[in-house]
Amino acid sequence: PENPLNDDSLAVRQEAGIMLFAAEELGNYRATWALPGDRGERAVLFIDLQKPIAGDLHDLTIKFYLIGFGAALAVIFLALLGTRTLKRPLRQVEEAMTAIDRRRHGFRLKVPEGQEFAEAYRKVNRALVRLEQLDSVQRSAVQRRNALANELKTISRFLDVLAHEIKNPLHALGINVDVLKTKIQREKPRADILKHAKILERELEHLQEVVQGFLNFVRPGVPQKERTQLNSVVREVIQLAGPEAQKRKIKVEARLAKSLRHVTLDPRQMQQALHNVLINAVHASYDGGKIVVRTWQKGNRVLVSVKDEGMGMSKADLKKVFELYYTTKKGGTGLGLPITKRLVEANGGELQVESAQGKGTTVTMMFRTR
Ligand SMILES: Nc1ncnc2c1ncn2[C@@H]1O[C@H](COP(=O)(O)OP(=O)(O)OP(=O)(O)O)[C@@H](O)[C@H]1O
Ligand SMILES: [Mg+2]
Repeated sequence: PENPLNDDSLAVRQEAGIMLFAAEELGNYRATWALPGDRGERAVLFIDLQKPIAGDLHDLTIKFYLIGFGAALAVIFLALLGTRTLKRPLRQVEEAMTAIDRRRHGFRLKVPEGQEFAEAYRKVNRALVRLEQLDSVQRSAVQRRNALANELKTISRFLDVLAHEIKNPLHALGINVDVLKTKIQREKPRADILKHAKILERELEHLQEVVQGFLNFVRPGVPQKERTQLNSVVREVIQLAGPEAQKRKIKVEARLAKSLRHVTLDPRQMQQALHNVLINAVHASYDGGKIVVRTWQKGNRVLVSVKDEGMGMSKADLKKVFELYYTTKKGGTGLGLPITKRLVEANGGELQVESAQGKGTTVTMMFRTR
């Protein structure tokens, strides 16, 4: 067969040893192998791919290019169309966002006639209306809160002054009533005169408690924190509450953890807080009842609980125990637990009250050891 290869291509082939070459002739394909011989001569092998195989290959190639080109055109067309149709809504959305950001009320998108985006535009406009309403509500809430805060500040300053102004005369009254009572007693008075003097004394004491309690609540004092062993605080408080418990034959049992880690807090404030809780437990207990004060370690927390087996509280009453002046006791101020909660939280702790009516109450304080 005829050799279609020129000399240049032969030189390349000799070096390579074996090569493939395909030439297209009138839609046919010819594959050629050139094999170098021992003495420089060449053996050349042709394989002609005749139609239909070559023809089909040719058609496929054309089809491939046509489809490729068509797809590319379609992509370009769609991209152009896309940018044209999407650019406008995107710009509008951006404007809406800016309006929201700058709190420019009244901004609305112009809804295009009969376009597929019209519904989306309307939705954005509805969202803008909702946002404006929320914004107005928030603004008036902030204004109301500020006004309320100012009013509260005035009231609390007034109450502060009032409490101080009442405290001093009360103190003087107390001393004078005490002196009077002592003098009356010396004169061997009638029973009813002594009774009136005692009522005066008791009511004055109550007033003093209320005023002092209020002052403690509004001005609990900055905690003087130090490394504290809560077991020692518990022992002191049990001793302090001892007489009150013994009067009604209530047993206060201490179950203290052997190696309780120290916590950083104000021991005097904790003593006050724990005393409030223990006295409440005594008040709630039945005569001859039992109160258990427990301390324990749980991970990086130290816990103290006061558990009584007294009258307990209903769920509704339990919700009210931290309300200022909530009391069910004759002569109670209703300040004990609010002050306790304040003190515990000021010292980085948490306070929890659990209660079941007729079964008893457990008050738990938790502090981190860090
Ligand atoms: N351990 C308890 N068991 C049952 N009820 C309790 C207990 N502790 C508190 N309460 C209820 O919560 C109320 C509020 O307690 P809080 O200590 O704040 O005030 P108070 O004891 O009434 O008066 P005070 O100011 O003298 O402490 C009590 O009146 C009582 O009804
Ligand atoms: Mg109390």
